[in-house]
Amino acid sequence: MMMYYLFLVLTVTSLKSHSFPTEDIRTTSKAVSDRLIELVTQGAFRGVTYYRLAALADTIGPRLCGNESLTQAVQWVQNAMEGEGLENVHVESVKIPHWVRGEERAQLLQPRRAKLSILGLGNSVGTGPKGIQASVLVVRSYDELNARCDEARNKIVVFNPQCDWQAQPVGCYGPVVAYRSGGASHAAKCGAVASLSRSAASHSIDSPHTGMMSYDPAYPKIPAASLSVEHADMLERFQRRNQSIAIFLYMEAQTLPDVIGYNLVAEVKGSTLPNETVLVSGHLDSWDVGQGAMDDGGGAMISWTVLSLLHALDIRAKRTVRCVLWSCEEFGGIGADQYFTAHENEVPSMSIVMESDMGVFHPLGLEFQGTSKAQQVIQTISEQLVSINASQVVTGGGGTDIDPWVERGVPGASLRNENYNYFAYHHSNGDMMNVLNSTDVDLAAAVWAVYAYAIADLDTLLPR
Ligand SMILES: *[C@@H]1O[C@H](CO)[C@@H](O)[C@H](O)[C@H]1NC(C)=O
Ligand SMILES: *[C@@H]1O[C@H](CO)[C@@H](O)[C@H](O)[C@H]1NC(C)=O
Ligand SMILES: *[C@@H]1O[C@H](CO)[C@@H](O)[C@H](O)[C@H]1NC(C)=O
Ligand SMILES: *[C@@H]1O[C@H](CO)[C@@H](O)[C@H](O)[C@H]1NC(C)=O
Ligand SMILES: *[C@@H]1O[C@H](CO)[C@@H](O)[C@H](O)[C@H]1NC(C)=O
Ligand SMILES: [Zn+2]
Repeated sequence: MMMYYLFLVLTVTSLKSHSFPTEDIRTTSKAVSDRLIELVTQGAFRGVTYYRLAALADTIGPRLCGNESLTQAVQWVQNAMEGEGLENVHVESVKIPHWVRGEERAQLLQPRRAKLSILGLGNSVGTGPKGIQASVLVVRSYDELNARCDEARNKIVVFNPQCDWQAQPVGCYGPVVAYRSGGASHAAKCGAVASLSRSAASHSIDSPHTGMMSYDPAYPKIPAASLSVEHADMLERFQRRNQSIAIFLYMEAQTLPDVIGYNLVAEVKGSTLPNETVLVSGHLDSWDVGQGAMDDGGGAMISWTVLSLLHALDIRAKRTVRCVLWSCEEFGGIGADQYFTAHENEVPSMSIVMESDMGVFHPLGLEFQGTSKAQQVIQTISEQLVSINASQVVTGGGGTDIDPWVERGVPGASLRNENYNYFAYHHSNGDMMNVLNSTDVDLAAAVWAVYAYAIADLDTLLPR
């Protein structure tokens, strides 16, 4: 009764925004979806995805691009996939950057001595062995910096952008990250000697959150780090009270020559159209803090589980289901871009590209990007997820690693899930196994598997 009621509510909701397909779209039998869901939520695969991720994240730890830990993780998963008997397990080499953090610290010297909570940003240069001691200018925006450009000379500029994260837990990320990414060069343009930016975090327990930054070649490269939300606000209050602020910053960060990295690939071949593909993916690299559990160990592991479930049930869709675990997403989709270049000829035969990189919390459904015709097909498949209450379909579905395909017209999808706390942990020491829930990870894997199989088993490629 409960299920019937839910089905009605969700169907009516979806009818409001999308007209129901009139043509007879034949999707995979509900029976297959039910078996996939049963296996991963109740059967032999219950808890396996979380278990695999915990073993990886505990044993190998975080997997920074260019670090040996990322290569170890690839080998670990590759061995396990081969041992399991998955098909076409192989790596594809890519060239990836090798940034190293080294030691780093920031000391508040005035108006009192205190340790500041910082994390150097990926790509940043270091301070040199003597460090940098300077007074501070705090600004909330680039407009404010431009208005006070003269005051920034020889100072450390602190960017403290404000955003209502409660109101828009995901929507604040972009506007705040603009300062993490570009702050150093904007500050350098005004003659600053270093740049600190407020962490892009929805909640904080004095935790700095790292991430990638980049330099505008027109200006000198100055060191860049993120600062905890609390410390950024404290520095702003000092300035408001006209108290002079001085900081000592020391960072050993440097970029070494590029190294070889690996995208890891495995498949369950299609029965009748093995030349056509559904791609499921996540990135295996992470930042060098925490365990990279949520970003993006979880997305990588549910994508692997899709193949494990099909293999365990000896189910083959018409088309090939391919899992790709990307290398070096965190420095700008580096491995995925090279994959796209090498596989561009597959644009016509790629039915959909799916990437889970926004958490594997309690799943709600799918975020989808494609034509309205394709969306109708997705809507039809979504009915097979009513039993686990994960049948929402909303517009979205981009991802750094799949965007090159989506830009070429291939439909794209990501997991819709209750990721309201994603940016509380993202790129911080808090991104550890404890943020994930094994039951929810199983449900997320179920959603991923049902869509991957059902789309791979359609009579035609998804419409474009
Ligand atoms: C990998 O990371 C560890 C821990 O931060 C560090 O000690 C080691 O030097 C890094 N290796 C490379 C090759 O960057
Ligand atoms: C800080 O200095 C400015 C400029 O001298 C002055 O207008 C302002 O009242 C001062 N604020 C406080 C809180 O002392
Ligand atoms: C895949 O192969 C089948 C049969 O050989 C062919 O009909 C189909 O057009 C191919 N798909 C693509 C996208 O080329
Ligand atoms: C189903 O999901 C909705 C959100 O989409 C939630 O409000 C509701 O409580 C869920 N019901 C069950 C039985 O989990
Ligand atoms: C994990 O999530 C499930 C439902 O999705 C919930 O019933 C359970 O209490 C959660 N476990 C923990 C430890 O929070
Ligand atoms: Zn990620």
